[in-house]
Amino acid sequence: MSAETRSLWENTAPALEFPKLRDDIDADVAIVGGGITGITAALYLSRAGKSVVVLEGRTLGLGSTGYSTGNLYATVDGRLARLRDTYGLETATRVAQSRAATIEAIEHTVAELKIACGFIRCPQYLIATEPAQLVALQAELEVAREVGLSVSSLDTVPLPIPAIGAIKIDNQAQFHPLLYIQGVAQAVASENCRIFENTRITARDGKLLTTAHGNVRAEKIVLATHTPIGFHILQTELSPNREYGIAARLRPDFSFPAGIFWTLDELGYSVRRVEVEGTTYLVVIGEKHKTGQHDEDTDYYQRVEAFARAHFPVEAIAHRWSAQHYRSADALPYIGRSGEFAYLATGFGTNGLVYGPLAAALITDDILERENPWSDLYNARRFAPVRSASAFLQENVNVAQQYLRDYLLRADVEQLENIGPDEGALTEINGKKYAVSRDAEGRWSVLSPVCTHLGCLVHWNQLEKTWDCPCHGSRFDCQGEVLEGPALARLEKNELIEPDELIEPDEERLSGGEVIA
Ligand code: FES
Repeated sequence: MSAETRSLWENTAPALEFPKLRDDIDADVAIVGGGITGITAALYLSRAGKSVVVLEGRTLGLGSTGYSTGNLYATVDGRLARLRDTYGLETATRVAQSRAATIEAIEHTVAELKIACGFIRCPQYLIATEPAQLVALQAELEVAREVGLSVSSLDTVPLPIPAIGAIKIDNQAQFHPLLYIQGVAQAVASENCRIFENTRITARDGKLLTTAHGNVRAEKIVLATHTPIGFHILQTELSPNREYGIAARLRPDFSFPAGIFWTLDELGYSVRRVEVEGTTYLVVIGEKHKTGQHDEDTDYYQRVEAFARAHFPVEAIAHRWSAQHYRSADALPYIGRSGEFAYLATGFGTNGLVYGPLAAALITDDILERENPWSDLYNARRFAPVRSASAFLQENVNVAQQYLRDYLLRADVEQLENIGPDEGALTEINGKKYAVSRDAEGRWSVLSPVCTHLGCLVHWNQLEKTWDCPCHGSRFDCQGEVLEGPALARLEKNELIEPDELIEPDEERLSGGEVIA
């Protein structure tokens, strides 16, 4: 990921370093993924006496946790009213209760481990800006009351956004997500809880996890990877999406209170204030689209920035970043057993900062054979064809469309001469497709465009200089290495392409180009 797309959290947290796995080791539990789910599970399991190994493919917290909002709320982004209407009030109530209890558990961990992560309690606001949103707002007000949250109706909000109605839910929370999991990781790292970074799983065979420099054998395996790695039937139920965030410095004489502010419009902007290292930032996140299915002519960062500048006295954009989330077809996450000894936690939507630690507690209780009042609610083995049929079909028709569009219609295919420095595109050479990109110095990278997960064609993401798969959300850097998603293997390099074949179209534009694939 380029320096300019580092998040506010990443830029204001120390660079902790954990070693790379270099041996074959055994453990009671191997946790794949060092985000808030994996690190919280490591805390709970190691405290219960289990020997634990955490394997993070890159850096702790820089999969999703470090690109989130830092907001902690008992509600859900898909709306409690939808849960009530789909499943009934009891389910909506249990979801809100389980999430509220998880926020309390985070607050307790912050206090107990003395983690300086700026944890505060604050209200959450849902804001209607158009008359058409008032019905949804009223429904959310009613459900929030019914599930036991402290909620009130407002005519205005303490933000310079033209609200025509709003609700306020008390006693939610915010923190610095990366400082939080770094604090937990530092407290828990020990002989009994070994944490490894830059250690990506390349294969899983039963209880054996393979990495490039060592293997791990464990009695239980927890896939805290946001989406299951490798092939899993649940991937047909998950919709991968990306969102864009900015942190802006505001005019010094302007201020607004702490709170989680959500607009109810289609793009669903999330707005908050962050105070870190003596500076106050406005954070705005929004402009969601399906991974790998972006509009190439749209600069999503600019649109988020335009929203911020339209409503706030922005002096400068300090940081910008994007993040991925996976939404389940039936609006509830999948948490728990997946097979005899494996566990997964996925389908969090943008609610992962609370669902992650909740998943850690549920999985820990199952491994320790303890009762948990919410395990049936999020059961990873459930399948609700009636409740999720529409979203399930929509998602899989979409995947099929992506597959056929690219293979049959040759969309997104560019000529080599049109690929400038820092650009990429699918390209056809001698009738065969390649994923071709150039770095800032103009050096070429030539890769197979076939996603190593299930064979869809990757798309070039110009904003992030990555290859993104439109089917299940795998993403690869411009050298083909896996960044995130279910793919286990990198995009294949194409050694067969000769430099001469690339340089032919436009000597002047391509001169100096060096093939680095
Ligand atoms: Fe499944 Fe690419 S992520 S085919």
